[in-house]
Amino acid sequence: MRVLTVIGNRPQFVKAAAVSTKLRERAEEVLVHTGQHYDRELSEIFFEELGVPPPDRRLQVGSGTHAAQTAAIVKRLEPLAGEVAPDVVLVYGDTNSTLGGALVAAKAGIPLAHVEAGMRSFNRSMPEEVNRIVADALSALSLCSTDAAVRNLQREGLGETAVLVGDVMADVAMIFGPVADERSKVLARLSLEPGGFIAATAHRAGNVDDPANLRALVEVLARGAREAPVVFAVHPRTRARLEAEGLLDGLRERGIRTVAPLGYLDFTRLVRASRAVTIETGWNRLVGLDPEAAARALEELPRPGREISPAAELYGGGMAGERVARALADRLD
Ligand code: UD1
Repeated sequence: MRVLTVIGNRPQFVKAAAVSTKLRERAEEVLVHTGQHYDRELSEIFFEELGVPPPDRRLQVGSGTHAAQTAAIVKRLEPLAGEVAPDVVLVYGDTNSTLGGALVAAKAGIPLAHVEAGMRSFNRSMPEEVNRIVADALSALSLCSTDAAVRNLQREGLGETAVLVGDVMADVAMIFGPVADERSKVLARLSLEPGGFIAATAHRAGNVDDPANLRALVEVLARGAREAPVVFAVHPRTRARLEAEGLLDGLRERGIRTVAPLGYLDFTRLVRASRAVTIETGWNRLVGLDPEAAARALEELPRPGREISPAAELYGGGMAGERVARALADRLD
């Protein structure tokens, strides 16, 4: 079995870390990096830290509008798919790299497998929602992280393609969480005490591109900063939007400390040492952009020292990558 895997963004490098090694025990994998993300701190650092195999091919599409970026991926990937002639194209998540890979597979008549299938926000103004819906509609094999995702596909008449595998992100968190605690020096570098700060990040267009939402986000963080200092890892999209709205310079005096995007180990260490983290088990809360709701959630949060293992079970117990590889081999051999 030959698998053409298409990745291109920060979270996809993390997901591939859970799957590629397992997949290569059973199949030949040709790994393609679209180049959607290219800064070292958004790309290469994840390959180095997490042991993702180096890409076999790089499309180097770079940044652009949704159409330009997706079109560049499609145009550069199509001949490669013809050359590699895979038995399956594997895509992850919901980005423009996912969409490009899905379209090429469908047009070339190559079965498509989608990891993190069935996720829905039910909001089609999010670019990611459009990408998910298209990728799922075109998939022969929908690899789902949760029961809720399987149910979403069933509702859309796609249940027959669905296999529940668990969350590949949970695999990586379980393996690399302790590694991060041991290796990362981020707390010392930023002079932080475990449990004494709030970790924050935000980059999805829905949160940061709309000026009103961006202002609301800053208010949420500023309200949080009244409880504990906020360390805010700022994605390039977010930085650009904050600058454009004239909000970047005022963050510091409101207790919000900005830092550049962090690699997996540093960010994991930061989150594990912060005051809160999984909606289902109560370690974090979905509060939207409401500062008072954020403040209430922070007051109620459990104090540090808790175990994180019960949450991991909800997401496949660290076996998702193995199940993805097995499902691919079973379905497509
Ligand atoms: C993309 C995904 C989003 C995902 C995120 C992960 C889409 C539609 N969105 O959003 O779902 O959660 O990746 O991080 O695919 N830039 C850099 N350096 C880079 C890459 C980008 O500075 O290495 C800047 C560019 O100015 C670019 C902007 O960030 O225009 C946005 O990058 P882009 O890849 O278009 O979208 P993300 O916001 O990263």
